[in-house]
Amino acid sequence: MKVSVKVPATTANLGPGFDCLGLALPIYNEITVEETVMPGSGIEINIIEDSETYDVLSIPKDENNIVYKAIELLYNFVGQTVSDIKITIKTNIPVTRGLGSSAAVIVGGLLAANKLLGSPADDAVLLSIASEVEGHPDNVTPAMFGGCCLASMEDDGSVIYTKMDWPSDWKLNILIPDYELDTKIARSILPEKITVADAAFNVRKCAMLVDAICRHDSELLKKSLKDKIHQPYRENLVKGFKELTELLNNKDDILGCVISGAGPAILVISVNDGFDKVKNDVKKIFDDKNVKCDIRTLNLENTGSVIL
Ligand code: HSE
Repeated sequence: MKVSVKVPATTANLGPGFDCLGLALPIYNEITVEETVMPGSGIEINIIEDSETYDVLSIPKDENNIVYKAIELLYNFVGQTVSDIKITIKTNIPVTRGLGSSAAVIVGGLLAANKLLGSPADDAVLLSIASEVEGHPDNVTPAMFGGCCLASMEDDGSVIYTKMDWPSDWKLNILIPDYELDTKIARSILPEKITVADAAFNVRKCAMLVDAICRHDSELLKKSLKDKIHQPYRENLVKGFKELTELLNNKDDILGCVISGAGPAILVISVNDGFDKVKNDVKKIFDDKNVKCDIRTLNLENTGSVIL
């Protein structure tokens, strides 16, 4: 028996919502998990690239694979051990770009393995395992449930989340550069301590951001997409981010510009034809840096993971 799951990409943080806010995007990976017929065959991990442009060679194909690790935790939860299993990852989400490719495969592997086991774990358990493997819940939550999610991993490992209604006219423009940035590196450069002033800045911006989303208030959104916890430290690793924020600051119909997850992709939120008006100037910023950039204007993905 085998089970396949389709899981969306995600963009996390949204500026001030470091490690707690994320949106699902309509770009998908498909993860298939099957029990192998030959006992003793061990783990087999196959990766199929849907798109030619993304290098997936760096994904481990042994016990260090994060999908395998997540599945192992699920088996442990139900008191079983994984022995012979085949995992196939059909990848269309660009890897190491800040678009939740690891969250997508973790969630897909877990949902597929849970179905194979007869669905012993509920969504709360699956979300908790996925967040544990990923280290934070901001990508795995929208990858599972779709939409715009606020998620908190509690001290006991459980995850409290809420899905907020995202205005359909707030467009998501994703700028995906042709180079990778390992999330481990992008997290390692963050300081261990920040000042109370910076923490207070983010607390109020994140609270304003959630309020702006809930009340569909574009003017408040513009004021709230600011961050002092991670972006200032990462902006030197994300080519063009500084120039883009300067270009887009106070432009009509541009609501904000933030690093997507840990980068290097960038999310620009716009209304009406705001992004079309600046697209050529945006392209020029990347051209001047000799960075090829895939620019996509997307709607929010609201369904989340689907068992096929
Ligand atoms: N919140 C995470 C970070 C997202 O910014 O490091 C990347 O996985």
